Amino acid sequence: MSVYIRSIGAYVPERRVSNDELAQTVDTSDEWIQSHTGIQARHICSDQESTSDLAVHAGRQALERAGISPEEIDLVILATASPDFLGFPSTSSIIQDKLELPNSGAFDLVAGCTGFVYGLETGRAMIAAGSARNVLLIGAETLSRITNWEDRNTCVLFGDGAGAVVLSQSPDPERGIIDSILGSEGKGAEHLIRRAGGSREPYTAGKTPEENLYIQMNGRQVYNFAVRVNTEIIKSLLERNEMEYDQLNWIVPHQANIRIIQAAANRLKMPIEKFFTNIHEYANTSAASIPIALNEMYENDKLSAGDYVLLTGFGAGLTYGGNLLRW
Ligand code: UT7
Repeated sequence: MSVYIRSIGAYVPERRVSNDELAQTVDTSDEWIQSHTGIQARHICSDQESTSDLAVHAGRQALERAGISPEEIDLVILATASPDFLGFPSTSSIIQDKLELPNSGAFDLVAGCTGFVYGLETGRAMIAAGSARNVLLIGAETLSRITNWEDRNTCVLFGDGAGAVVLSQSPDPERGIIDSILGSEGKGAEHLIRRAGGSREPYTAGKTPEENLYIQMNGRQVYNFAVRVNTEIIKSLLERNEMEYDQLNWIVPHQANIRIIQAAANRLKMPIEKFFTNIHEYANTSAASIPIALNEMYENDKLSAGDYVLLTGFGAGLTYGGNLLRW
């Protein structure tokens, strides 16, 4: 059975923060951010919004475009690293309630920025196994809530947003998710971590260093990892499906840093135009970045039925993964 992306939606908060605006509060510059990352702006949620709110906007749009009734959704999977609450209740249950999906199970999936790639394979496998007919998969983040706005090494990189897809059995067996790779190198966990608040380092008033409540990152190590795995994922997915580079219509990489994408393109000797990027406008929205990019491509008629599209992700864990699909 082939499982396909039946519909897609996305939502980004209205408030747009340019590099120049950020440079008013932290020691950085538009020139540094653009030359080191390709980022020009990011969108940041309002005080009233949380991850579930962003996810509900994106999920509602995907549901409307799917043309199925709320009763037909069997499962909500939310990929996020910035849930409404730590541990429980799951944010996916809050979304299931807000979207009024009466027959749906719900769980959160944590795989850092690779969350959407993991979710796509999880949803596909559950539909193929007969455990669900239609799955609503959402990648949603409010990283602004767990960002240390005094740390210029990280705060310039991230943004908020959400993207959603409905997965169903494909009416055309030639179209759908062809293959996935899900990987983990947990020995690199320290390189991208939010230390406090879990069972390893519970929050203790007056004792927990404030910076441990926020994202901490060794940029160089994550950069080297990202370039390596991005290249490997593309190579492996093509090799094991006996495909050549030029058969691909699009590569949609996790939008973390334009230099990571350029480095992968150079190593693979692939034209950069094959890689869809919108990092300049949204920065790194973690598990939301790939579906936000796919939605933009869909809305701008960049995706045609039958196109071969390859998604690549990498992030905290350290995790990595990819999906090869026929649109
Ligand atoms: O989804 C996965 C999440 N994370 C990533 O994908 C991040 C992967 N890493 C990266 O994208 C890059 O490593 C960064 C963009 C984070 C950093 O770029 P870099 O070229 O690796 O810079 P660097 O860390 O080697 O820092 C170079 C200099 C340092 O100054 P000194 O020590 O040479 O004087 C930093 O302090 O740039 C400085 N710097 C900044 N300067 C202005 C770091 N951040 C900033 C900043 N503005 N925002």
